[in-house]
Amino acid sequence: MAEKDTELMKGEIIVKDPSKLRLKPNLQDYNGLRKSFKWADAEKMVDWFPGGKINAAYNVLDRHAKGKNADKLALIYDDGAGTVKKYTFKQLNDEANKFANVLKKLGVKRQDRVFVFLQRTVECYASFLGAIKYGAIASPMFPAFGPDAIKDRLLDSSAVVLVTDPELKKRFYQVKNDLPDLKHLIVVGEDNPPAGELSYSKEMATASKEFETVPMDPEEFMFMLYTSGTTGKPKGVVHAHKGIVQQTLTTRWVLDVHDDDIYWCTADIGWVTGVVYGVLGPWSNGITQIGLGGRFDPETWYKTIQNYKITVWYTAPTAVRMLMAKGDELPAKYDLSSLRALYSVGEPLNPEGVKWALEVFDSKPFHDTWWQTETGSILITNFPEMPIKPGSMGKPLPGVEAAIVDENGDVLPQGEEGSLVLKPGWPSMMRQIWKNPAKYNEYMRNDWYYTGDTAQIDKDGYFWYVGRADDVIKTSGERVGPFEVESALIEHPAVAEAGVIGKPDQLRGNIIKAFIVLTPGHTESDELKVEIQKFVKTRLAGHAYPREIDVVKTLPKTRSGKIMRRLLRARELGLPIGDTSTLED
Ligand code: PRX
Repeated sequence: MAEKDTELMKGEIIVKDPSKLRLKPNLQDYNGLRKSFKWADAEKMVDWFPGGKINAAYNVLDRHAKGKNADKLALIYDDGAGTVKKYTFKQLNDEANKFANVLKKLGVKRQDRVFVFLQRTVECYASFLGAIKYGAIASPMFPAFGPDAIKDRLLDSSAVVLVTDPELKKRFYQVKNDLPDLKHLIVVGEDNPPAGELSYSKEMATASKEFETVPMDPEEFMFMLYTSGTTGKPKGVVHAHKGIVQQTLTTRWVLDVHDDDIYWCTADIGWVTGVVYGVLGPWSNGITQIGLGGRFDPETWYKTIQNYKITVWYTAPTAVRMLMAKGDELPAKYDLSSLRALYSVGEPLNPEGVKWALEVFDSKPFHDTWWQTETGSILITNFPEMPIKPGSMGKPLPGVEAAIVDENGDVLPQGEEGSLVLKPGWPSMMRQIWKNPAKYNEYMRNDWYYTGDTAQIDKDGYFWYVGRADDVIKTSGERVGPFEVESALIEHPAVAEAGVIGKPDQLRGNIIKAFIVLTPGHTESDELKVEIQKFVKTRLAGHAYPREIDVVKTLPKTRSGKIMRRLLRARELGLPIGDTSTLED
């Protein structure tokens, strides 16, 4: 494996000529910085209140709204259907202040959970940041979530406020009775709300735009995001205000933003990339961002780059593959010359994708970046000043220690495959799994944080992703837990048992595949499968349904009754079946 990779690298390394780069990268001398860097240096990139207090949203909005960036555009929001709205840092700060005042009027307490379930609109940004300013814990939810996914999150976190819209609130109402802690439902676009609801616009109309952003202890919580693991329901990953230090730093060093950039992160704010690099990092650096509503569409995307003269673009491998699949004639119709730097995250980026970009985007390669919901910001990455080895995730951020270890936690030599681990303690690391210390502790072993990924390091210190060490599925870059899908499947009356795996797919990285046992009285048919797919889509989430379903007579289980997904996967993919000593019969 190591030998093969070394060959690949020799032939195909992308070396950048500093004299040809349009701007000098913010990070210079990576090797020197790895030795000299201290987190205390990064702490100087953000503003602090007296007594060592901080508020991430102060750094994202107030410091610009009160300074030289006050009238600079923070957001150009294009709804994808012809309406464009523009907000300066001052205007966006005013909106967030008003929302913080709404929370104050409602008597929301410090560190209460405020959930935002909205499309990517200005109200979504304002309520998310307003909640953080106020000292609440903000939590965005992906608009494709169905009632089950909403209930899991609001219930586990004992959420107090939900901000949503007339369309999305219908899903909330299906589970409302199971959520006794939720006190306030604020609806955007509902001017005459029925009893039990508040109108966002009415509340905002009477709220003051003056608000003193609350100084927080750096360890107090800023936002939480639910994410999937192998077992159980989604877990609430909780991030502290101090994370803004590293979120600011990585946006500057990795995404390499400069003052005049027009930056576009394509991720929805319901995912960590959308939160950290679609809200926090870029605005903390005072950068103008494009927000695009609507669905993925290659033509619209190229048009967006052309029309807004995007310079820095952060997207995901599935999107890159979908653009590639559309062919090279389409991008040739657009002027994409504004682009300076391209980045990708969420799943492995094939070397072909990196090289395709060189052809289509005037010699600009994609820079692959690696991180997780739990890590709170980019930790391993390709830096603008550094040569790229297509297919590699790059190198650790200065200040971050990453290694490959064996089962005992012993560091493996270069070229050997093992668990990707990190030395805990970087500023944006998750602070807890909500109400679940045992789950948090599962990440920590042998003084390492276990990422759940397997990888290897080459002789030049570049990291190469191998796969997941667990059953977590990455489909179109989105993280799905097999247990959630299985739980949704068995709610359908025709499904007695279900086992769910990720099946490799050229376009989506993986698709979700389900093996189901039918309840007596049901027979297999295409109609039934479609109905089951629709059922999961509407209950759980638009992206988390099985694209393939096989009906089977039995599922392989351990003697304790656990479905052996590993075996299902091995059978499906024709892999060695491995140890079956725990198999039932
Ligand atoms: O398996 C890795 C994969 O995505 C997982 C984290 O998923 P999530 O928490 O949803 O965060 C995604 C966006 C930050 C990782 O454990 N992953 C992330 N980036 C890469 C990747 N796999 C391969 N290459 C990457 N660059």
